[in-house]
Amino acid sequence: MRHCLALVALVLSLPLSAAQLHLELGDSTREWSTGELLQHPQARDIDIDQDVSYKRPMHFRAVPLAALLQGVKADDHLQAVALDGFAAEMPAGPLLQQAPARAWLAVEDPAKPWPALGDGKPSAGPFYLVWTNPQASGIRPEQWPFQVATIRRLAPVEQRFPALLPDPRLAANDPVRQGFALFQQNCLACHRLNGAGDAQFGPDLNVPHNPTEYFQPEYLRSYIRDPQSLRQWPQARMPGFADSVLSERELDALLAYLKHMAGRRPLNR
Ligand code: HEC
Repeated sequence: MRHCLALVALVLSLPLSAAQLHLELGDSTREWSTGELLQHPQARDIDIDQDVSYKRPMHFRAVPLAALLQGVKADDHLQAVALDGFAAEMPAGPLLQQAPARAWLAVEDPAKPWPALGDGKPSAGPFYLVWTNPQASGIRPEQWPFQVATIRRLAPVEQRFPALLPDPRLAANDPVRQGFALFQQNCLACHRLNGAGDAQFGPDLNVPHNPTEYFQPEYLRSYIRDPQSLRQWPQARMPGFADSVLSERELDALLAYLKHMAGRRPLNR
């Protein structure tokens, strides 16, 4: 976190052109400047039909992410950390694929800055992970991290954060296990649970209390579908999860995981 803040200070104090992408891929660490990425031999102009962050068609200068991930294997686990501390957990497999969906690192050219993401907000730059043909591989909105500063290779979530694990005695096909996978894909980018996780954008979802304990079930469902439908204020930052992203059955499984974890809170809290 301190590292992130130092980075924010650094980026704010330098002109946009000095942005650096940090790649920490285990054996190797490398920095790419905006200029180097814009001139990368594989850089291309790409069109995104339905951009997740801008919510409209967009046009970017971008490098295929796979070209930057040398030495990364399909079963590795990657994390993209943004300037604001948002940490997207991403299995490397889909990021290395050429097709059908393909991941690109869009690079903001300081000479042609991108639009703001909203009133008074910065743009999605300096680096933004975008996808061509995302629906073909079921790529989720949380797999479009923006304002990316660092991409690193890490051990899988279950190894780094055992406090997130459901009871190991559960059957392999127990919905709680599916809920745990969905939690990692959709929620862990912003929320910790049992103090475990890298992000602190939203509150911990089990400590001191679990939302399945203090929300009536129907209100919790509608909160996840559309947080503003329950509580409204201009600074609210949690996005809603529509049916298309999280089906009713997936939401059931996710809630089963949350509820299960209420019984697995660390002692002495
Ligand atoms: C982009 C970040 C982000 C993602 C992704 C996200 N949340 Fe949140 N969440 C927040 C923030 C921030 C808050 C605090 C309220 C606000 O600012 O909207 C919050 C609040 C909540 C609350 C209300 C807690 C309370 O006591 O008020 C619940 C419950 C919740 N999130 C559950 C989830 C679940 C479940 C998921 C995954 C399906 C999820 N969130 C995904 C950012 C996120």
